[in-house]
Amino acid sequence: MKPVSLALHALFACSVAAGASAAPTYDEEYAKYGVGMAGAAYCAGTLGHGVENWSCRACKGYPGVTNSTIITESSLSYTLNGFIAYDSSEDRIVLSIAGTDPLKIRDWIDDLDFFKSEYPLCAKYGSEKCEAHEGFLGSYDVGREAIVSAVKEYKAAFPTAALHLVGHSLGAIMSVFAALDLTLEENIKVDSLLTFGQPRGGDQAFADFFEANLEELRLTHYTDPVPHLPPQNLLGEAFFQHPSTEVYYEQYNSLGSYKVCDGQEDNTCSNKNLVDVDLLMHLNYVGFDFISNYLACKL
Ligand SMILES: *[C@@H]1O[C@H](CO)[C@@H](O)[C@H](O)[C@H]1NC(C)=O
Ligand SMILES: *[C@@H]1O[C@H](CO)[C@@H](O)[C@H](O)[C@H]1NC(C)=O
Repeated sequence: MKPVSLALHALFACSVAAGASAAPTYDEEYAKYGVGMAGAAYCAGTLGHGVENWSCRACKGYPGVTNSTIITESSLSYTLNGFIAYDSSEDRIVLSIAGTDPLKIRDWIDDLDFFKSEYPLCAKYGSEKCEAHEGFLGSYDVGREAIVSAVKEYKAAFPTAALHLVGHSLGAIMSVFAALDLTLEENIKVDSLLTFGQPRGGDQAFADFFEANLEELRLTHYTDPVPHLPPQNLLGEAFFQHPSTEVYYEQYNSLGSYKVCDGQEDNTCSNKNLVDVDLLMHLNYVGFDFISNYLACKL
């Protein structure tokens, strides 16, 4: 018995070391690649144009893109805009989901409610029950089928390509839901998940469940208010919680000046700025200006 259980133990330890528990490494050059892709999603669907023929300003930074497909779905309450693209120069499929109209971001923040509802995949995949932000999950669900079928189509057409997910703001948390969904429900490997200005998407159990299954790099920019929403605590009780790994840019638009943070909520990172109201920080990540890009794709 003993040798077998030791061998199993060794195998398990090995797979854990190589898997979800190791923090992904941060590469700023890759973040610059990802942020333009995240920005291009604001030139898709009901938001703007330029992704359909890959002519948007941000799109021009990726001349290796040979295919792109808009994803745009709406219900009475929610809209999801984004795209999937194949970048032949990296052999990479990129799924990018946009957030709210960048010109209406202040209203979005003012109107944000804090309702949670059960996130079904936690219980379904053997974890304790967990809860996610009802509106964020609803926004994702409206585009779920379109996302899954687009990813399947691109994975079939480009079988050797890695799958990378990016998103900004509301699009960041939607890409977290997409990554869990693709991994668990569709058995599709997500090779990278990189987000910018992500709001909190669920409770502690949700954050733990995410970490047990996937890893992400979650960029925060100085006094960006959105990573503080919804609040971590309410009336002294644990409320919403981020998953790791945060990468915190500690000054305005300061390339190279970042910190890879510890754990889920590191109080020496974004959390140290408790009264953040600076939308400029939310609309600029790793040197990419979401507003000017967006205005250009409205022309
Ligand atoms: C892309 O499409 C728009 C209209 O939808 C057109 O004005 C523009 O010239 C096209 N750009 C390219 C590079 O084909
Ligand atoms: C990619 O683009 C080529 C050339 O336009 C086209 O033949 C092919 O069907 C596209 N593939 C996907 C998955 O859209």
